[in-house]
Amino acid sequence: MVCSGIIVPMMEKSTDRITDGEIHPEDHFDRALRPANLAEMIGQTQIKENLQILIDAAKLRSEALDHVLFYGPPGLGKTTLAHILATEMGVNIKVTSGPAIERAGDLAAILTNLHQGDILFIDEIHRLGRVVEEVLYPAMEDFSLDIVIGKGPAARSIRLKLPHFTVVGATTRLALITSPLRARFGATYRLDYYETDALVEIIQRGAKLLQVAYDDQGVHEIARRARGTPRVALRMLRRVRDYAQVRADGKISGLVSKAALDLLNIDGQGLDELDRRVLLCVIEKYDGGPVGLNTIAASVSEEPDTIMDVVEPYLLQLGFLERTSQGRQVTRNAYEHLGLDYLQQDSQQKLF
Ligand SMILES: Nc1ncnc2c1ncn2[C@@H]1O[C@H](COP(=O)(O)OP(=O)(O)OP(=O)(O)O)[C@@H](O)[C@H]1O
Ligand SMILES: [Mg+2]
Repeated sequence: MVCSGIIVPMMEKSTDRITDGEIHPEDHFDRALRPANLAEMIGQTQIKENLQILIDAAKLRSEALDHVLFYGPPGLGKTTLAHILATEMGVNIKVTSGPAIERAGDLAAILTNLHQGDILFIDEIHRLGRVVEEVLYPAMEDFSLDIVIGKGPAARSIRLKLPHFTVVGATTRLALITSPLRARFGATYRLDYYETDALVEIIQRGAKLLQVAYDDQGVHEIARRARGTPRVALRMLRRVRDYAQVRADGKISGLVSKAALDLLNIDGQGLDELDRRVLLCVIEKYDGGPVGLNTIAASVSEEPDTIMDVVEPYLLQLGFLERTSQGRQVTRNAYEHLGLDYLQQDSQQKLF
């Protein structure tokens, strides 16, 4: 991915699930469908209102935006919002990511190339190294950069002044951001899963841009199964469009969406095979839990990161999984959804 002259390595993926919320190669469509300004962005009403105030206030005072941090599960619009901020402010955006900035010198090179008001978007900001972070602190706070020239006893430090710029950070893991870094953001926003109504609008907008015919039931069927995530909704839309064109008359109707998504093993609540494997693993091997996340990941042969970022947040949101001090526990709702008898667990416990 090349953005604003800075090369960002593609993220490694462990799975290729339609519902994983991660970025797939085909997602250049996503970028084409990405809303360009706040007015085009659907849902996240409160965040949009807060951002509008932030933008208007900065413009009123002719200042750079305060540093902004977005966090939340993958595919909900963090990167989109970073680009929208740049558009709304009429400034340049430089895109990089935590793992791409390996040395303090890399960050210094980026910072010294910024102009007044520019946005520096740091994706996966929780993966910044300690040394790099320490360069970022004074840059964010005082807009200055300390550079050491020479080595040994002759070494001396000089302080460079930087233009007032804005860091926009994005992360799926707020807890992994050190508190000094967190404290340097003037505004922090948590993106939450989207309501079905907002997803319906997002899918309708996508279908229009892709020039595919649809009806209300067809769009609703996708929205219901899109696990509250625009990226997943748009990816499902493309798969349903394929099905509609190959197996039906090209129109996304309720029946077509249902048949296409059933064939992809995505159930009525948006759970896919991995979600179900996780729940069944906890139920069958650990009597419904509690069990540690790493144990679950090992049992289903997946990366703990995938389980933590993609599977668990949605299962928690649905109330299918609970976090307890001893680990993850499957709830009665999950048993019912999977068509299993919840008493099974009580009777098992009574046996011991
Ligand atoms: N509110 C929205 N309205 C319309 N489309 C949206 C909205 N939010 C996100 N999208 C679409 O979903 C895609 C994913 O959004 P984005 O890349 O901004 O997510 P992200 O939160 O940065 O994910 P990650 O954590 O994986 O980086 C975008 O390309 C865009 O097309
Ligand atoms: Mg992103």
